[in-house]
Amino acid sequence: MLKARITGTGLYVPKKVLTNLDIEKMVDTSDEWIRERTGIRERRIAAEEEAASDLALMASNEALKSAGLKARKLDLIIVATVSGDMPLPSTACILQHRIGAKKAAAFDVNAACSGFIYALSTADAYIRAGIYRRVLVVGSEVLSRLTDWTDRSTCVLLGDGAGAVVLEATDGDRGILSVKLNADGSMWDLLHIPAGGSRMPATEKTVKEGLHYMKMRGNETFKVAVRTLEKLVLSTLKEHKLKPEDISLLIPHQANLRIISATAKRLGLGLEKVMINLDRYGNTSAASIPIALDEAVRSGRVREGDYIILEAFGGGLTWASALIKW
Ligand code: COA
Repeated sequence: MLKARITGTGLYVPKKVLTNLDIEKMVDTSDEWIRERTGIRERRIAAEEEAASDLALMASNEALKSAGLKARKLDLIIVATVSGDMPLPSTACILQHRIGAKKAAAFDVNAACSGFIYALSTADAYIRAGIYRRVLVVGSEVLSRLTDWTDRSTCVLLGDGAGAVVLEATDGDRGILSVKLNADGSMWDLLHIPAGGSRMPATEKTVKEGLHYMKMRGNETFKVAVRTLEKLVLSTLKEHKLKPEDISLLIPHQANLRIISATAKRLGLGLEKVMINLDRYGNTSAASIPIALDEAVRSGRVREGDYIILEAFGGGLTWASALIKW
């Protein structure tokens, strides 16, 4: 039976650091409030000339290097993003050209913060079906461009960055064991960008009213996230006859430390088994899991044979998990 195994990981974050103290000077908030309510201390902000494909390119080169694979060998590139370079073409196509992956098909996936796991699942399905053997999956976001820097309830949360993984077909027992994807569109308006699409095209008025920025009902999102994530992880474990203690590392989407801690507590997992880096990067949407995964791998927190779980929750609403034997 064919499986998809992650053979390389990489990340890139922009150089500019924006601390909570910097944000204190922009809106009515405080470092203390942000740390206590979210766990975030600082986030990265892309340079003016950097767009999602630039971040994706750097992260992808790292992932290919660690997999020991040349870009021209790739069969498929999937980029998960809500902040692509432009609405048309896909950021994946721009990346395909810039990375020199001449024979790879390329497309984007939009499932907001769950985007990386949705993209991973797509890659996994192509590999299992024997259609493609080598796939690059990237989460890349420049959320700072979709952020209303006068809205304290959202601007403190978000950051820019990219993470990438190379997946290759294998016959062994290591690799992606299962992926679960979920959506509930009835709550689409908890997290959305009203203007700039076909529903409300860009006009002078929409720009003036800031309707191209992300709008979020944070508190409601928070409650649904905690409820949903516990159930999701437990059902993933049950399906594979595993217990929470069999998991070596949980890599959650980095949205809010309170969501992460509450989920870990409900699962009976100590925080030493949970990857947390949102204090340094904030919420980077589809990029957060591959960034955290790369840091976990490079710091030796993931070892061969370990069971790890990725889980995410985000706009759509969407939520997703993946169980991997490393
Ligand atoms: N600084 C200071 N005060 C702030 C603030 C900020 N940056 N942002 C909001 N507040 C205020 C609110 O105005 C409100 O004041 P009020 O009580 O006078 O009306 C108060 O803090 C509480 O707001 P509330 O939204 O209930 O806070 P909260 O405990 O839910 O925390 C979030 C807010 C956004 C941190 C939290 O809801 C959250 O993280 N939600 C999930 C968001 C998320 O992860 N979304 C992405 C999903 S992938």
